[in-house]
Amino acid sequence: MNIRVLLISNSENNLGAIKSLIDDQAISVIGESAGGTVAFDMINNLSPDIVIMTLGDGDSDVLSMAERIILSRPRTYVILLAEQIDVDLLQSAIKVGARNVTQFPKTAKEFGEYIKTVYANETTRSESFNIKQDLNWMSRVITVFGAKGGLGKTTLAINLAVDLAEKHKKVAIVDLDLQFGDTHVFLDIEPTDTIFELVQEVSTPTIDLIRSYMTVHSSGVHVLCAPKSPEYAELISPDKVKSILAVLRTYYDYVIIDTPPFFTEMTITAIESATIVLFVTCLELSTLKNSKLSLSLLESLHQMDKIKLLVNRADSMCAITLDDVQKLIDCPIWAKIPNDYKVAVSALNRGIPFVIGAPKSELSQSVASVANFLLEGNADIDTLNTKQKKRLGLLNNNNNKGSGFFKNRKG
Ligand SMILES: Nc1ncnc2c1ncn2[C@@H]1O[C@H](COP(=O)(O)OP(=O)(O)O)[C@@H](O)[C@H]1O
Ligand SMILES: [Mg+2]
Repeated sequence: MNIRVLLISNSENNLGAIKSLIDDQAISVIGESAGGTVAFDMINNLSPDIVIMTLGDGDSDVLSMAERIILSRPRTYVILLAEQIDVDLLQSAIKVGARNVTQFPKTAKEFGEYIKTVYANETTRSESFNIKQDLNWMSRVITVFGAKGGLGKTTLAINLAVDLAEKHKKVAIVDLDLQFGDTHVFLDIEPTDTIFELVQEVSTPTIDLIRSYMTVHSSGVHVLCAPKSPEYAELISPDKVKSILAVLRTYYDYVIIDTPPFFTEMTITAIESATIVLFVTCLELSTLKNSKLSLSLLESLHQMDKIKLLVNRADSMCAITLDDVQKLIDCPIWAKIPNDYKVAVSALNRGIPFVIGAPKSELSQSVASVANFLLEGNADIDTLNTKQKKRLGLLNNNNNKGSGFFKNRKG
């Protein structure tokens, strides 16, 4: 367990005193601030587990800031520290939803225990809230699937995840391409543990347990990597994965699942657990045929309402157009990502996702648009206006007209 704590106080003395009282291996101070908008930016950038704020003489707007955090970041918990606690102060704290108000601690041991108890209680609260709600409105599971290898599924999963993290969301990637998963290559991270080691645990997974098997990327994305060797894949059961996903969705704003290009019980679990499935295809005949077959299978599994059809590597030089795709596949195209071999491959070779390494490229901008639509919760193509469709590359004129490709071919 590592509880990441941010300290906010207008008094340097108080900041120093609190820091000296945090001496527990399970707790780390990740930043400190005097308050104001700077503090709020830090909270957004660092996504702390706990924010400790003092209610001293020079501290202004502490309660309104606590309220903002409680309302906008349900997985960042607030502790308020006061020299003296009286009924008025408690009532004002309760009014803004602050549950953890305490006097300045006397010893590091006492304070360490208090922080750990708050963290455990609040996590249990938010988990039980999620079980009751079934789906937390904040938490979305996005499964990236496609009917062939090499379509760009991992590329999109990684870059979407990093882009959402850059937009201050808590994001996890779960690599369910259990035999040949390569999310760690795209992110240039070296996992110590993977999903294989995690499923060896006999105890029921908790968020702390799962997090201890994840690898953290510099963007803040937490990655549950695929096993280090393909033969471990069959030792991982879909039921175990289902329970891991159920816990992850209570903690992260977005859980992004990368998948292999075929249907197994595991991929079906990933699709059934998803709130959105980004179904990746491209302007190439055999991929389109596989896509059509896969979509009809997904229809029989009653999963079509969550499918967002995304055409990757859409190139205006291609003989097949988006209109042709629509004629073949009875599912509206939700987004189009341009073909840019140079940017995509250089990002992969450097291990730096292009949304960070080449943010101005058309490729990055287009992935960023998809991320924005997910953020806005506006994933329904029927509700998009012309401007929004343009942002998703759907009205780029020259590539939309049917080429008659399928008319000219038999079958
Ligand atoms: N929009 C794109 N333009 C050009 N190349 C791309 C694009 N998307 C992905 N690629 C490249 O295609 C290759 C396969 O991508 P990958 O994400 O590994 O596919 P998958 O996970 O579907 O097997 C990689 O070399 C990647 O850099
Ligand atoms: Mg892949």
